[in-house]
Amino acid sequence: MFSIGNNKLFSGNISPLFNKETAREVRNLHRKIDGYKPTPLISLEHLAKKLGLKDILVKDESSRFGLNAFKVLGGSYALAKLLAEKLDINVEQFDLKGIQSLLKEPVVFTTATAGNHGTGVAWAAREMGQKAVVFMPKGAASSSVERIKALGAECIITDVNYDDTVRLASQTALKNGWLLVQDTAWDGYETIPTWISQGYMTMADEAVEQLSEFSDSIPTHVMLQAGVGAMAGGVLGYLVDALGVQNFKAIVSEPVTADCVYQSAQDKSGKLVAVDGDLNSIMAGLACGEVNPVTWPILKDCAFAFAKVEDSIAATGMRILGNPLKGDRAITSGASGAINLGLLYAIANSPDKENLKRALGLTEESVVLIFSTEGDTDSDLYRKVVWEGLYPY
Ligand SMILES: Cc1ncc(COP(=O)(O)O)c(C=O)c1O
Repeated sequence: MFSIGNNKLFSGNISPLFNKETAREVRNLHRKIDGYKPTPLISLEHLAKKLGLKDILVKDESSRFGLNAFKVLGGSYALAKLLAEKLDINVEQFDLKGIQSLLKEPVVFTTATAGNHGTGVAWAAREMGQKAVVFMPKGAASSSVERIKALGAECIITDVNYDDTVRLASQTALKNGWLLVQDTAWDGYETIPTWISQGYMTMADEAVEQLSEFSDSIPTHVMLQAGVGAMAGGVLGYLVDALGVQNFKAIVSEPVTADCVYQSAQDKSGKLVAVDGDLNSIMAGLACGEVNPVTWPILKDCAFAFAKVEDSIAATGMRILGNPLKGDRAITSGASGAINLGLLYAIANSPDKENLKRALGLTEESVVLIFSTEGDTDSDLYRKVVWEGLYPY
């Protein structure tokens, strides 16, 4: 149901791109957006005791700007940086509402998305008075398509997988003179993806601030999920700067069908491994086959372990979060958000749990920080999993 392996590439090197100082600039930009509010950090202490841990702290992103996912943090920061650059001003001086009057005509931003990133770009473009064209891979959830269209963006559904949809969006941008705001990087396209990953630091910065509300202000473990690894890398990069790389263990997880980060970590030649095919998974946001080269160095240098996980584990995570033990709060989490709670549960209930826990250093003193990165973004699937028991444990 899952595989987990220690990271043999760990070096503890930290990245100059992700740190507390840049996070301050990013969060100041987010604070200027109407409706900005830190999302809650929720303790599931009863569940933690049941799993033989001290505490499980879940950062619940389902209320982020009313968009049901964290992703808008990256898109909004990148759009602001791009527009500030166009106007030759510093992003610190950026005025969201006034920007429209400074431009002769709206800028067209484009991107490819499994759903959440495109929602964020469409929303941020609308907030800043600009336009968005969003490409989605075949099989895209209709609720995501409708959400993106309702934000005023044009939405184009392709007949290819996520990674090929990214290539299509990139070619179309070049042809039409649009600005590509993609949440993954490749040779020669690194600046915008770096801004996007830096945008995600707000989520981690809030979490670190909120940790002080709990008795243990440093988690012993942080679990992050990866599609291309832009979020996991940005958040981990920030956390090693803020908390110290030696002070916690990071576990990075993916769907088994899209385990490009896991496979890259296994590759002895140190090359990035791409996974091809349909990348089918209920974890739509994590169904990416090519690793982001900007954030990969952080993952390989600072993650403690990598895991690949079947859909049934993420589905179990969704059911547990939505139906908590008495005294714990319910959290609505989509499959990409619930993978790590599901994985933690699966580790604690595995026939090999003693060995697994020992290898990961999980004990009754452990405090595990988890990011539930989305709510029920695919509401039909959410009900099928949580109400009807689709993908049983
Ligand atoms: C809900 C959710 N969680 C996590 C991720 C993973 O982000 P990344 O592709 O940066 O690894 C995504 C990506 O779309 C997502 O939508």
